[in-house]
Formats: sequence, structure tokens, C-alpha cells
Amino acid sequence: MSAPRKSVLVFRELPDDQLARITALHDVTIANPRKPPQLAAFEAALPQAQGLIGSSYRITPELLERAPRLEVISSISVGVDNYPIAALQERGILLCHTPGVLTETTADTVFALVMAASRRIVELSNHVREGRWDRNIGEDLFGWDVHGKTLGILGFGRIGQAVARRAALGFGMPVLYHNPVAVDVPELAGRATHLPLDELLQRADIVAATLPLTEQTRGLMGAREFALMKPGAIFVNGGRGATVQEPALLQALDSGHLRAAALDVFAVEPLPQDSPLRRHPRVTPLPHIGSATHETRYAMARLATTNLLQALAGERPATLYLPGA
Ligand code: DGY
Repeated sequence: MSAPRKSVLVFRELPDDQLARITALHDVTIANPRKPPQLAAFEAALPQAQGLIGSSYRITPELLERAPRLEVISSISVGVDNYPIAALQERGILLCHTPGVLTETTADTVFALVMAASRRIVELSNHVREGRWDRNIGEDLFGWDVHGKTLGILGFGRIGQAVARRAALGFGMPVLYHNPVAVDVPELAGRATHLPLDELLQRADIVAATLPLTEQTRGLMGAREFALMKPGAIFVNGGRGATVQEPALLQALDSGHLRAAALDVFAVEPLPQDSPLRRHPRVTPLPHIGSATHETRYAMARLATTNLLQALAGERPATLYLPGA
């Protein structure tokens, strides 16, 4: 006897072949609530939904209450800060995410931010594109070496460790990291030092945040922390925007204390039109592209689809976040 078809709400576009895996077994509604014309269809599908798959949309406890039949949320992301963890736990709803498949791509992005801020890549490319390259550049446009600088990494999960490998093994950078626990990475033996936050900030030339957003990390980098950083240091964020108090970062840049910042993530996304971070001369902003390559976004969608189908079949999903081990 074939398994009963269940109701699945797809709230972000999936590749056709992954969508076909779901429609072969279940009844599917596709509605992306971030697109205003599709919001009503999303809300209308909630009361029946047994599975949700998507990303980049905040599922509030109130929305969850409107989905009384829900068994699983399969997020196409590694970060789970868009989901009401306590409410999901209380109702025993599974939460799956996509760690692993995006590690190297996201670490590439973080390292690109390090390079862009230090060598002023975007600013100097614009210098050419805007017709201002009419003589050899002078010292005012020189950058800052990356190789040999000390890199401080906030958060030493998979992505933080992958950034550390690039820095230590590729660029000869001593690596410091701040993490709740020390992590033994054999490839980095003797090259990465576990430190308290304040000491890391005081010693690093470049600080790269790869933190998840939790109650412990929200607003972690504020005025006090930026003041602890070395004069002329660089700050990079490839984790979550709300781990940074943005007015404090702007103040540290405007006072000249920090050399530059490069940011892939912001407290509010998309970054509001009137945010000073959009056009600040010493900020390189990116539109949250950490995992955004064709290969990696496909791998994330495939893993999230597998997780969803496993959960709906009563099996343990490959990469389950809730319930934890
Ligand atoms: C993730 O997977 O969490 C990325 O930041 C994309 O949201």
C-alpha cells in the first residue's frame, strides 16, 4: 500500500527536479510570502500544511499556530534564526537545515570580503569604471596586505574553520578564534588559538564574524567591542547582521578607528535604502551572497528536499536541527 499523500507548502522556489521529487509523493502548494501577490496563498495553505520547505522568511509563533497539522519545517539554509525554536520544540515539530553543503562556498565569500576590504577591490574597480584612472594611483589609494596579518574569527563552526584553513594555509595568517569551546582541527595544529573575545579583538588585524544569531550573539559587537579592536583594523561579517550593533560599527568607521568593513549580512535585509551602510566610502556591502552559487544553492535545495521527504515518511532526516541529539 502506498504511503498517504501529505500537504506540502513550498515557500521559496525550488529547482524543477527537486520540486518533482515532492510532487511525486505529496500535494504541493507553491507560494512565496515575500512576493506580495503570493502572500494570501501562503497564508491560505497553512491550515492544511504538514510540511514546509523554503528559507529567508520569518516563521513567527503566530504563523505556526495557524498550521495545526505541521510535522516538519525543512529550511534551505544552515541558519535557523528565522524559526520559533521554543514553539517548535513544544509542539514536537521537526526542524531540518542544510549544514555542510554550503561550508566552502560561504568561506570563499568571507575570504572575498577580507580581500575586498583590505585591498579596496570594489572601490578601486569603480575608480576604473567611472573614468577616474587617468594616472598611476598614489598612496591615497593603496591597500593593506592580507598575507601575514593576524585574523580573528568569531564563531568556529564549520564555516569559521574553513575560513581559518584559507587564512592559515593559503595566506600565512596566524589565526585566533573565539568560540564557546576550543576546537581541534588537525590541519590547523599550532596555527589557530582559542581566545576570549576581548583578547582576540585586541590582537587581531582583521576580525571576521561567522556567528549564528542566538540570544548569546545578538548585538555581540557593540561600541565597547569595536573600541577594543586595533586602530586601523578591519571588520568583516559573513554570519548574521544582528550580531552587530550597526550604529556602533558606523561610529567606529567614522571616527577613523577602523580602517574598513565588508559586510554580507545586515540587521535588516534587504538593507534599507536609507541605511548609511549602503554608500559608506569604507564599507563594502554585499546582498547576502554567502552561499549563493549555482552549485551550492542546488545542493542546499536537494538536501532540504531529502530532509523533507524523510521526515514526512517518518524517517530520521539527514540533517536534523530539532529535536537535537
Ligand atoms: C544560510 O544558509 O543560513 C545562509 O545565510 C543563507 O540564508
